[in-house]
Amino acid sequence: MKRSGLSIFALAIALGVGSSAVAQDASQPKRHFKIQKPAQLDPAEALTIYDNVADRMAKGYAASGDPTAKVYRNWRLYNTAPYPSATHGNRYVNNYVNAVGKAYGTLKTGDRLPAGTIIAKDSLTVTAKRDVFAGALFIMERLPTGQSPQTGDWRYKMIMPDGSLFGDTRGDGADKVAFCHDCHEAASEDDYLFFMPDAFKRVFLD
Ligand code: HEC
Repeated sequence: MKRSGLSIFALAIALGVGSSAVAQDASQPKRHFKIQKPAQLDPAEALTIYDNVADRMAKGYAASGDPTAKVYRNWRLYNTAPYPSATHGNRYVNNYVNAVGKAYGTLKTGDRLPAGTIIAKDSLTVTAKRDVFAGALFIMERLPTGQSPQTGDWRYKMIMPDGSLFGDTRGDGADKVAFCHDCHEAASEDDYLFFMPDAFKRVFLD
């Protein structure tokens, strides 16, 4: 079924994910909702919302022509459900990794993922009123050793929901995405990676 005529907002309504459908987290102070904080979704709800918009989000990113944006949804997904990421704009995020970076799920301190590893993190915003919006696609790509020593040989890219390129540390708008590594550098002993919250880690047997 083609749904391109529907806005994600309309889709949210069609899905019946209005605020009344969801119990609010009692630990969440009321005033947070007043200032339009993101919704506190339980994992099942986050997954349902994501499953309904993920293909369309991926289509938007793919309009960039970026090779990762076109295929990342076929890669391994390392989290069990979208989880909130304060450091990526308070959005719900997912981590996909290509086959080259298979060790992402079990990487030990001091290890380094091989050149050709690509990690793609798509994101969505769900407001307290359960309006759903696509967020940016965040990409990290491991370059051959020595190609970008100042960023631990990681290339960072950010692609907007409509497919426009916000920045690429190896291309246009490099200065706009320099902040990525400024923060990821804090995890230098773990190959500049932070991984997912334990509660959302998917365990693979190979
Ligand atoms: C203020 C700190 C901060 C900034 C800035 C930041 N990140 Fe991250 N990043 C994190 C943290 C923490 C995680 C792990 C938790 C999560 O997913 O939110 C992460 C995870 C990731 C991952 C998954 C790989 C991993 O580390 O496990 C990718 C890909 C990623 N970020 C890309 C980017 C890109 C691209 C930018 C810039 C546009 C960026 N990040 C900016 C902190 C940051």
